Amino acid sequence: MSVYDKPDFDGHECVQFITDRASGLKAIIAIHSTALGPAAGGCRAWQYLSQEAAVTDALRLSQGMSFKNALAGLPLGGGKAVILLSHGLPPTVAQFATFGRAINELQGRYITAEDVGTRVVDMQIVARHTKFVSGLTPGEGRAGGDPSPKTALGVFLGMRTAWRLKSGQESLRNARVAVQGCGSVGWALCRLLHEEGASLVVADVAPDRVAQAEQEFGAARASADEILSSDVDIVAPCAMGGVLDEARIEALRASVVCGAANNQLSDPEDGERLRARDVLYAPDYVVNAGGIMAVAMEYFGAGSERELRNKIEGIPHTLSHIVDIASSERSATSAVADRLARSIIHEAGAARAMA
Ligand code: NAI
Repeated sequence: MSVYDKPDFDGHECVQFITDRASGLKAIIAIHSTALGPAAGGCRAWQYLSQEAAVTDALRLSQGMSFKNALAGLPLGGGKAVILLSHGLPPTVAQFATFGRAINELQGRYITAEDVGTRVVDMQIVARHTKFVSGLTPGEGRAGGDPSPKTALGVFLGMRTAWRLKSGQESLRNARVAVQGCGSVGWALCRLLHEEGASLVVADVAPDRVAQAEQEFGAARASADEILSSDVDIVAPCAMGGVLDEARIEALRASVVCGAANNQLSDPEDGERLRARDVLYAPDYVVNAGGIMAVAMEYFGAGSERELRNKIEGIPHTLSHIVDIASSERSATSAVADRLARSIIHEAGAARAMA
């Protein structure tokens, strides 16, 4: 099937396939929109089941970045890169170098950073070959570096707001939260929740992460299959996308879903399914925007840690606004968020066309 015919193709401006025999790199860079500015979004390194799956992921993730950046009020469009791993091995230095050169050839239309499977040290290799990269080591007191703790902070603040809207409680103290995935973001989120006095249930496919969370946060463990249907107040998907489908939504016992994972809904109708079950869904790209806010401040070289914190503290306001509209219209929060984001992008595109 051609890219144009894929259900997740949404008028993407550019989808670039990169192969390099010498280093063995296989990667895809998808640019969804540059209406608001250069397309920004992280680079995911993942062992996909098929090339089709990698293309779908790149298309969906880059669209999500457009929406995320629009609602975060950033002068950035949406893009994403995926590196296709073979045999589960992480990308090599030579592969990151080739990837950096490929980004450079796009002359600033796409800016990369970390995502699942890539770290600050990897972006430092990319930075030797292009300036269109962020998530590097920041200067003293400056915003930047690993975006994961900032992503976790935004999710945490969004979750507190979602829980207040749902339960009337001002804090997450004593709230029971199930966290799926204790990686960079999930771990930082667990820490914030633990400090607030929430009780945690965690799952990860990496057993050592679960053991550490048990030890450090007094978390209970659930299997990776069962975590989403745990008997908790809030579920926080912080691993991979597509985890909320019809069956899993039916099995949910939580009344709030608020997590970091991109593209949590397997299908747009899942937003309506969550609403029908009276589950407050905090749209993923609304609450997980803290990381890209950090990446953007670092990239544009403008912003202190304090300014970044202020920006992240705006996430709960955006979420409340979306929830208000959704309740008054009796529509899904995900649909409202998509509509608001599309309208911001559309207006910017129209203004650009007029200029
Ligand atoms: P990570 O790779 O550090 O952590 C993911 C964790 O999930 C790993 O510990 C992995 O073992 C675990 N995992 C994988 N499949 C699982 C499954 N089926 N069940 C339970 N655990 C599973 O990734 P990171 O950076 O923490 O990102 C997590 C999610 O948040 C991703 O969807 C990412 O796209 C999204 N995100 C991350 C941002 C960041 O700043 N790192 C920014 C915005 C979104």
